Amino acid sequence: MADKSAKWDLNVDGLFYVDDQCIACDACIMEAEDFFEMNDDDGHAYVKKQPTNAEELEACNSALEACPVEAIGNDGK
Ligand code: F3S
Repeated sequence: MADKSAKWDLNVDGLFYVDDQCIACDACIMEAEDFFEMNDDDGHAYVKKQPTNAEELEACNSALEACPVEAIGNDGK
């Protein structure tokens, strides 16, 4: 389970975040490229935009479920 106390500063504030367990596998970006971005310098993903409607929320939850190391949380608020 993701830990909001360990989330990257790059995440935009809101429900979703990526924490420091991320291994840069890219799955979240494949699922929801509008919301997740890779920080190539530090080797981890982060949330660049928060969902604003039900469809976008579903895309972000799919990304959360696709993460193999459970580095994505949706309890950021
Ligand atoms: Fe990282 Fe998980 Fe995305 S490992 S790149 S947060 S799918």
